Amino acid sequence: MSVYVNEKTGIDTKETAGSESAPFQTPAFAAFTQPEAKIFVYKQLEESEEFGYAEISASALKKAKKGAEGLKKKLEKQAKADEEAKSKQEEAAKKFAELDLIKIEEDLSLPKAEKIKLRSTTEKVDQRVLVQGWVHRFRLQKGLAFITLRDGTGFLQCVLSGDLAKCRSTVELTLESTVAIKGVINKLPEGKTAPGGVELKADYYEVLGFAPAGDDSITNKVQENADPSLLLDQRHLTLRGETLSAVLKVRSALVDSFRKVFAEHHMMEVTPPCMVQTQVEGGSTLFKMDYYGEEAYLTQSSQLYLETCVPAFGDVFCVQESFRAEKSHTRRHLSEYTHIEAELGFLDFEEFLTHIETVITKTVKYVLEDPVAGPLVKQLNPGFTAPSLPFLRMKYVDALDWLNEHGIPNEDGEKFKFGDDIAEAAERKMTDEINKPILLTRFPVEIKSFYMKKDKEDPRVTESVDVLMPNVGEVTGGSMRIDDLAELEAAIKREGLDAEAYYWFTDLRKYGTFQHGGYGLGTERILAWLCDRFTVRDCSLYPRFTGRCKP
Ligand code: 4AD
Repeated sequence: MSVYVNEKTGIDTKETAGSESAPFQTPAFAAFTQPEAKIFVYKQLEESEEFGYAEISASALKKAKKGAEGLKKKLEKQAKADEEAKSKQEEAAKKFAELDLIKIEEDLSLPKAEKIKLRSTTEKVDQRVLVQGWVHRFRLQKGLAFITLRDGTGFLQCVLSGDLAKCRSTVELTLESTVAIKGVINKLPEGKTAPGGVELKADYYEVLGFAPAGDDSITNKVQENADPSLLLDQRHLTLRGETLSAVLKVRSALVDSFRKVFAEHHMMEVTPPCMVQTQVEGGSTLFKMDYYGEEAYLTQSSQLYLETCVPAFGDVFCVQESFRAEKSHTRRHLSEYTHIEAELGFLDFEEFLTHIETVITKTVKYVLEDPVAGPLVKQLNPGFTAPSLPFLRMKYVDALDWLNEHGIPNEDGEKFKFGDDIAEAAERKMTDEINKPILLTRFPVEIKSFYMKKDKEDPRVTESVDVLMPNVGEVTGGSMRIDDLAELEAAIKREGLDAEAYYWFTDLRKYGTFQHGGYGLGTERILAWLCDRFTVRDCSLYPRFTGRCKP
């Protein structure tokens, strides 16, 4: 008996005949399927140009037999694994068939369950309630199923027993599945712990939507120590995690508290546009866009618009996105951030500084007093101490002395001299060392924005301020504004800006000029300080920075 092998055209399958016209691909397969047959291999025939079948050489035959042995073992192993998988499947099907017989039905004689959110579980002790949410944690133990339910407003431990713990949906339950559970809320006995000190003893439950198991399961998609970029791709899922959601809950309370403090100061909220045709903080960070054929930008700051609001509404503020095409990849720069800005009329620089430190101090106080955010700040930043008034006031020139005395060099590695920018690293070293809020004031004209008012006593510097916080550095920037028309026009010219585009801004100095000042707070930076986050990226819902504009 003969069997044929052609390494180019042959196919190693059970269906292949192994004939001259339907050869196998490898001698090993041929030896495996037809061990008694003589093997012929398609090759260049000896002493000839021709190709054809010739009997396999002794050495190749030895190799083929060895290969056949390996194949046999491999196939035996595969068959065993298939058998095991099949019996497992049958077993599971049998088990599920049994589980399917367990029917979960609500006992309609029980008192009506009141639908509640998890924020109010502790107020509903001994009552029958309906709770709905996502399976945050889950374990099966000694015939009981423990679900930690999450609905965004809180967590609740739910205990399923009897058939509820045994039924198919419980056995197949996955993290992040949605469920509706009915039962009575009980106070936990001494020594046991669960969120709120209560747990729900379930008498009925339904799965509303199963989340995937296996490769697509939440624990596979969102792994704690995964690369930050992979986690950002899954931001819609990572948001559900305890830490990120806690920071964003504090963020909500922070913005609310700012609004509350501004209201106490009789300041009105306005909503300036995001699409603009004037720059505020220099051309290098402008996001340009085509606006029906005209050049426009995404706003860098709403300041100029806020200034125009003061004569109409008095002191004003806004909570608005600002956009910066930052080239710097630092942990405190975003391309889009939530800018809380305020503008105040008829006050001097000292009053202005007092206002800023008061607003920040009161806001932090309200956040810490908030029943949701307060405990979260404690949890995220156990060492946080609320700032107290007054903040340390430090002039730019004194900061240079401080930096030089402490051996902290400027960006060129040299001693600081008047006119140098205090870059992020140096600023942070100083702030961390001093370790309390600083109002850093009176920066030189040439390193600050065109609209800033000069100090009367030292016209080399401006009536400007940066608020610096430990671990983050600058969280707020502001200044008094030039209120003299000619001086502002000269500044606009000096900056190389198109004076005409600013007519509405300069008009303010024409139609009843007034002493005024304002500031902008970086929400994400304040949050990084408050919640002890390494980067502002962890303080934004869907952070935008160089190379990241999704999801
Ligand atoms: O110091 P800045 O550039 O000041 C202004 O825009 C003024 N026009 C504000 C005003 O007076 N109304 O920005 C103010 C604050 C900074 O202190 C910082 O907290 C934040 O905005 N900020 C950023 N936050 C995140 N990413 C960026 N790229 C930021 N740029 C500024």
